[in-house]
Amino acid sequence: MNVLVTGGAGYIGCVVVEQLVNHEHRVIIMDNLEQGHREAIHPEAQFVEGDIRDADACEQVFHGFSIDAVMHMAAESVVPYSMTDPGRFYQTNVAAGLRLLDAMLRHDVDKCVFSSTAAVYGQPQSVPMEEDHPKDPCNAYGDSKLAFERILQWYGKAYGLKHLSLRYFNAAGATERFGEDHDPETHLIPVVLKAALDDTPVPVFGADYATHDGSPVRDYVHVTDIARAHVLALEALSGSGDTAYNLGNGVGHSVFEVLATARGITGRSIPGVIEPRRVGDPAVLVASSARALAGLGWEPRFSTLENIVESAWRWAKQHPGGYAE
Ligand code: UFG
Repeated sequence: MNVLVTGGAGYIGCVVVEQLVNHEHRVIIMDNLEQGHREAIHPEAQFVEGDIRDADACEQVFHGFSIDAVMHMAAESVVPYSMTDPGRFYQTNVAAGLRLLDAMLRHDVDKCVFSSTAAVYGQPQSVPMEEDHPKDPCNAYGDSKLAFERILQWYGKAYGLKHLSLRYFNAAGATERFGEDHDPETHLIPVVLKAALDDTPVPVFGADYATHDGSPVRDYVHVTDIARAHVLALEALSGSGDTAYNLGNGVGHSVFEVLATARGITGRSIPGVIEPRRVGDPAVLVASSARALAGLGWEPRFSTLENIVESAWRWAKQHPGGYAE
């Protein structure tokens, strides 16, 4: 298939592109390189530097290329920023996404795989969370992604759009070529590994949660596993059935456990400094991915915390300044 990947130069996007190329799909990347990196653009993909918020740029992509399906990954995705600038999140994740969908329909592109998130659920009422768990996002990021999932549902009913939403839990880890490099970096594992390299402490945002050790618990899933789910989702799109899948590991790890694992792998001391809770953070996010196994034949293969931290550590040592070095 000819697949347009918005955000295909980003952390998860570039690994998705790598796997699509390996599965002999032809890939067109559209990315504004705000969070993405030129160095992360797959050499066999065609690249359009453009912003999904620019309606003309979107229209041009569909004019310029023959496209069968869209993987819509471009987004604002950092939870704490969504609490101080929600407008940016709704503009990008909802308004721009809607214009992208309309451009797809105008050009008879009827397949969309959407990058959604565990943040659609909010505070868990039961763990592990299944897809029909109540959705009550506790940050504007999750709410914007849930809004777009709902738009997809209605576009499916009204216009025949075939769509799947993949709800990522905490993507982490690196491949041989691609790793995590945000500016500023807010995600726990790269922050911890940078602290290991720089011999600095790590802020622990809250040690008074109702979890076994007081720090928040997340379900870390290897970026390679997440990427594989996209290839499977693309193949599943033509059928009917479920339209949202959790992508998680089914196992939660606290911030303190991540620190302990990173100390073991890096051999560095990496002190943690307890700071106030970060606004918008749920205490626990752990997935049941049983539906993804049944519907897509997907299960995580590389997602032990040790694998994740080891792969990210290898990449961090090779790229101490990120892609720029
Ligand atoms: N944390 C720290 N110190 C840090 C960074 C993070 O204690 O320096 C804590 C956070 O408070 C949180 C946990 O580590 O409890 C994980 O934080 P991340 O920033 O790595 O990830 P989030 O859980 O906030 O969010 C990530 C993605 C979202 C996605 C979510 C799904 O950024 O896009 O996972 O679970 F929605």
